[in-house]
Parts: sequence; structure tokens; C-alpha cells
Amino acid sequence: MARPIFLLACALAVLLATTTHAHVVKHTFRVGNLTVRKLCQERTVVAVNGRLPGPTIKVHQGDTLIIQVINRSPYDISIHWHGIFQMLSGWADGPNYVTQCPIRPGGRYTYKFDVVGQEGTLWWHAHASSLRATVHGTLIILPRRGSSTYPFPKPHKEVPILLGEWWNANIADVERESLTTGGAPNISDAFTINGRPGDLYPCSIKDTYNLKVAAGKIYLLRIINAALNHHLFFKVAGHHLTVVATDASYTMPYPTDVVVVAPGQTVDALLVADARPGRYYMAARAYASAPGVPFDNTTTTGVLRYESSSSFSSPPVMPALPAFGDTPTAHRFYSNLTALLLRGAPTVPLAVDEKMFITIGFGVYSCDKKNKAACAGPFGERLACSMNNVSFQLPTTQSLLQAHHSQAPGVYTEDFPERPPVAFDYTSYNVSLNLGLLQTARATRLKRLRYNSTVQVVLQNTALLGAESHPIHLHGFNFFVLAMGFGNYDPAAAERRFNLVHPQVRNTIAVPAGGWAVLRFVANNPGAWIMHCHMDSHMVMGLGMAFIVENGPTPETSLPPPPHDLPRC
Ligand code: C2O
Repeated sequence: MARPIFLLACALAVLLATTTHAHVVKHTFRVGNLTVRKLCQERTVVAVNGRLPGPTIKVHQGDTLIIQVINRSPYDISIHWHGIFQMLSGWADGPNYVTQCPIRPGGRYTYKFDVVGQEGTLWWHAHASSLRATVHGTLIILPRRGSSTYPFPKPHKEVPILLGEWWNANIADVERESLTTGGAPNISDAFTINGRPGDLYPCSIKDTYNLKVAAGKIYLLRIINAALNHHLFFKVAGHHLTVVATDASYTMPYPTDVVVVAPGQTVDALLVADARPGRYYMAARAYASAPGVPFDNTTTTGVLRYESSSSFSSPPVMPALPAFGDTPTAHRFYSNLTALLLRGAPTVPLAVDEKMFITIGFGVYSCDKKNKAACAGPFGERLACSMNNVSFQLPTTQSLLQAHHSQAPGVYTEDFPERPPVAFDYTSYNVSLNLGLLQTARATRLKRLRYNSTVQVVLQNTALLGAESHPIHLHGFNFFVLAMGFGNYDPAAAERRFNLVHPQVRNTIAVPAGGWAVLRFVANNPGAWIMHCHMDSHMVMGLGMAFIVENGPTPETSLPPPPHDLPRC
């Protein structure tokens, strides 16, 4: 008897929560040049509203976000709301030539979308060339307005920890150089915490992030890896952390002293200020998963200072960070997180409609031998990345979503392969330099999905030119991570290990170096959605593909027409 009444009460509560409390949150983003001094040098970068990092967006679940972007920079730009589902609002997702054409210098575009079905930390960034190095910021989704709260102790304060990457050179030049030579881009000169490199870099003692804490209080660190090309280890000296969410999805509380965060990912962690009052460094440096590949080996630091201790006391305590190549530590963190089972949260679909096996890694594509300067990659060819040997190319005349929506022919094909052209010993270093396997072809090949189909993707890293952990990011959806492992994927053995009960839920998965990961998601969001490596240099070299998700059977399950101000190509 009690049950139906309880259900009715719940339904009413949900209704009230959605109808009476949702707000519209508005922002204006002015994208333009900003001159800053870092690492003893003056440099002009592109930034939003003259700030580095850009403005923090804070909404409650259920709110509508409206952001007008005005491009006063000399570059084409677009902004992506990383991790936001964009349910039926795919025109606001942002990636250049995927859901829109870029906003030209002098142009503007208003992004409008509802934030539903997710809570926690996400972020926004430019999705046009490498501009996201400086065009990025935090996007916080708080529980619904009204009564709901966090499924963990209420923090005294919430602190974004945006980890970034810095070049002394102009990032657009770095990218252009790598594209013209066909080689890998130059590595960065520093990492940053909330835009500041910290004490260990030249001329940076004053350019250090400081966080004052009160003894005994709880802090929620919203850690974001906004670096372009590096996974990062993060630690706070003298303190333990408890992970409570990743990629805006709650996790079972996971106690740890080190956080590992791949480009694109976020980690929400609680810190209790329970150490002896004093000053402690928080620090981040690279997790470099590929032996022999050059990386930025510097360390960024911020200072956590207890209110009661003066800033002139003894130097802060430094945490012992894992070794750069510490794959066991990275893998433990990446693979041990599990979801917090909340009532009403989506459960893992057991029946699968589409099974894909996708190899990810490096390769080459033939360069024009008449232009020797463009052949600086391996074997005198150009360095490339691919998925199933297709090196992904963005269209240049209109976006994939526009082409799909208007059924324009010739922009893309729908024949993205469900498996690699040949099966081989993917993770064996014996084939690393096999030119037959290394050859890729550039193309815009997509995979079409029926509305509401369940998709399982096995991402298999290859050892071609060397194995490396790739953070693969899917737009438009979260996915369940059923299993991860090293070596070649073996379905029978892996399926026995599938976590179908409380797998972690992510929008970006760090596929282990020389290993694999199994993802599952429901294609319930019509549109064009790119899946790509969040290492910026890899994406540029073709490590991506895109899905077309068909409309559902009703207007309520179909993508509305594009907004009138969608930028023209
Ligand atoms: Cu945060 Cu397509 O990326």
C-alpha cells in the first residue's frame, strides 16, 4: 500500500524540481588577444574575457545555459562544452567542422543548451586547432536547485584545479610547424595550476597558485586536465584524497594519495585539512606512457597553506610524485574506479546491437616526395594517427552535422570499418616498424547508428611506432567502461571480467599503453558526434572518427533544425 503513494510523492517532487527551480544562466565570452608575462617572457595568447584560465561557469542540473561567443581574435574559433550531453542540442556541441563551421574573426554565435542528467566537474575549451591551450575554463554542474545535495560530506569550499600546459612559442606556430614538416610538435615548456606555473620555473615565484585552508575543514578539489598532450600525476604533500566523481559522474569514494588524470578528464576529490598546520605543495607532472617519446618533464606546483601558518615559515613540503613512466600507478587509478550506484542512474544495457573493434595508434601516410621539407616523419613519410587505419580528416566546406541534416552528398561516407583491415599481433614490438601495417589513408568515414541502439566499442592500442596511452573522448554521451587490460584483446577472457554492475562512467578513457578498453553506450542522442584522442597533436594527425546517430521515431526524439545564427562556412 505504501509503495504507490511513495512513488507518487517522488514523481511530484521531480516535477516540482524541474518546473519551479530551473534557471537560465547567461554568459558572454569575448575571445581576443591577451598579452601576459610567463617564464620571464612576454607573449600574446588568445583568451576569453581577458583571463587565463577563462571564466568559470556554474550551473545547477536542470538549468539552461546560454553563452554568446564573440570572436575578436585573429583566428577561427569554436567552443566545446566538454562532457555535456547536448541531448537534442547537438548544434551547440562546438567542434569545428563536426557540428558547426568556425566562428570567423569578427563573428559571433550563441550556444544554448540544457544541462540534464549529469553533475560534477566538466570544462569548456576551444575546439579549433590548438587554441584550447589557452581558451578553456571550468564548468561546474551543481545538484538540482531545491533540496538535492552531494552524495558525500558537504565541503567547506570548492576549488577548481585546472591543470594546463604552456609554450613559450606561439601555439599556432608550433602546430603549423608540425603540420608542414609532418613530424611531431615541439613539447611544452611548463605545466600550470589555474594558469600559474609555480615556484619551480624561472621568474615564477610570484606566479604560483595559492590555496588557504582552515584546519579540520573539507575541500572539494575539482581537478581538470586541460593540458594538450600529457597525462598528469597530481599529489598534495601530507594529505590523502578521496575521489568522489570523474567526468561529472559520481564514483564510489576512492581513497588515494595520487590522482592520475588524462587530457580531457576531470577528477573530483575531497581533501581534509588534517595535517600539521604549515605549507604544503600540490604538484603535477607528466605520466609519460611511451618510453622514448619526448615529453615535458617539468613540474608545476601550487601552495596549500593553513590559515594559522605564515607564508614566510619554512619552505613548503614537496610531495613525492610517481616516476614519469609509472604505468602500474596510472593503471591502478584509471582501472579501479567504480560508479556510485544512485537510484535512477542508468544501468548497463546487457544486449548489444553494434560491436566495433577499433585499433588506435600511430602510422604514416605517404608524403609528396617533391616537397622534401614535408617528409620529416618516420621512413621519410608523414607521421599519422588512425583508427582502424583510417586517418580521420575533417571536412572543410561544411560541418558533418549540417551535411547529415541537409543530406548533402560528398562530405563524408558512412563506411567506417568495424574492424581493422587486417588482424595482427597489435601490441607486439616486432611489428612496430612494419611498413605494410603502418600505412594509413586519410578519409572522412563515419559510422551510422540507429536511434537507441546499444554500441560496444573495444579500443585496442597498437605498438606501431610504439605503444602509447591515448585518452579517447566521445562527444554527446557518457559510456560505461566494462574492462581494461594489457596486450591483445581476448573476448572470452575479457568478457568474464566485465563489470556490468557498477562500471565507471566516463566521457574520456585512457586506453592503456599497449592495451585495450571496452566501452558501452546507448545511442539515444541524434546528431553527429566525434570520438577522438584528447591528445591534441594526435587528433590533428587523424586519431578520431565520428558517429551519425539517426533521429528517433517522434519529434521529441529528433534533432531540431539548426539555430539561425549557426556560423556559415
Ligand atoms: Cu574536450 Cu572533442 O573535446
